[in-house]
Amino acid sequence: MDSEQPTRGLRARLRDAFRSTGLAVYGAGLGFLAVLTIPFAIVVAVLWFLRIGRPLVLPSLRWLQWLSGAERTRLRRIGHRIDDPPRVAGEPEQQVTDPATRRELGWGLIHGTVGLFLGLLALQLLLVGVHDLAYPLWWKHVGTGEQELLNGLVPARSADAALWGLVTGTIALVLWFVGAPRLLDWQSRSGLALLGPAPGADLSQRVVELTATRAAALDAHAVELRRIERALHDGAQNRVVGVAGLIGAARREGERDPGRAEEILARAQDTTEEALAELRAVVRSILPPVLENRGLAGALTALAADCAVPCTVTIDVPVRCPASVETTAYFVVAESLTNVARHSHASRAEVEVRLDAGSLHVRVADDGRGGADPAAGSGLAGIIRRVEALDGEARLSSPPGGPTELEVELPCGS
Ligand SMILES: Nc1ncnc2c1ncn2[C@@H]1O[C@H](COP(=O)(O)OP(=O)(O)O)[C@@H](O)[C@H]1O
Ligand SMILES: [Mg+2]
Repeated sequence: MDSEQPTRGLRARLRDAFRSTGLAVYGAGLGFLAVLTIPFAIVVAVLWFLRIGRPLVLPSLRWLQWLSGAERTRLRRIGHRIDDPPRVAGEPEQQVTDPATRRELGWGLIHGTVGLFLGLLALQLLLVGVHDLAYPLWWKHVGTGEQELLNGLVPARSADAALWGLVTGTIALVLWFVGAPRLLDWQSRSGLALLGPAPGADLSQRVVELTATRAAALDAHAVELRRIERALHDGAQNRVVGVAGLIGAARREGERDPGRAEEILARAQDTTEEALAELRAVVRSILPPVLENRGLAGALTALAADCAVPCTVTIDVPVRCPASVETTAYFVVAESLTNVARHSHASRAEVEVRLDAGSLHVRVADDGRGGADPAAGSGLAGIIRRVEALDGEARLSSPPGGPTELEVELPCGS
């Protein structure tokens, strides 16, 4: 059994060498077309410069794009990932100055020369190897002009000289076996460097994303402000209005019935305390002080301890994250555990938080009945909005019958 392992490895590598040769030769074919394109492109450019070649420009561009597209397809078959570059549409003038076009012309120049050579070299090594190895068998039967080894480099016109074919053929085949995948790799580099989107193109995509998440951030902000305003308005403000009313009543009763006034003042005091408690709750919901005092780990442990469903907490966050990230993580866990207690009928819940590759990963899972749906309430939708506002990702899995799992990833910007 053991002895099979290296053989299979060898067979796989042999297959790899043949496959590489095939793809490299195909690449050389595209290189040949590219090398034909270059003088043609120069002629078109000169004619255009003389103001008579304009009708030729668009068909030439189409051809260049087809050729580059064929190379991209070849690169993908080799196993590389390469995206199509974004294109400028419009007049020939604009299309010619499109960075994608310039990069494709550059590729044509390199691939039509170096790429063509590398592809043919892979084929040549294989052909020379087979030719030279078999040469001692049939060297007598070919004309004297063709009695040569190493692709015509070394004449070999006697039986002794022909035997050298065993040596040169072996060397060529070994070089081919080892080198073909590497030659294919070198041949692919110009395409990989020049046929994908230009490095700046990623940035413009990124700007679009950031604009969207910035809008979401402002949106989340507005929603948060509205929530705070409502909490202040419906809670604390109502109670303070009540206190004012009670004090007014107490003053009016003051002379007539001091005992009654005393009673009303006591109620006013209670209401003041309630108003204070409301205010504290609002403040705490903005930036939970427990986060400030005890850090993320302490705050989450406290949340889990308060949860009606038994909850295990695993936290692996060695450093502190930005306040916005910690607050959002806290909010996610608080909201999720409230849901677990309220909706899930679970017997166990689990909170896991870890810092990995510059992102804070938060996972809250329960073994309850499932069926959580962001469209059915405001809590889960709020989680998703807050997470997206930080450029993060939220994934919810909650099939009917359970279990429910919410995973959130928040970039920490480091
Ligand atoms: N952990 C959970 N297990 C089962 N169902 C859940 C869970 N979390 C949420 N749900 C369901 O998804 C709905 C939406 O949740 P949410 O957006 O938090 O709104 P709310 O809690 O205000 O109802 C809930 O009404 C509930 O039916
Ligand atoms: Mg909820």
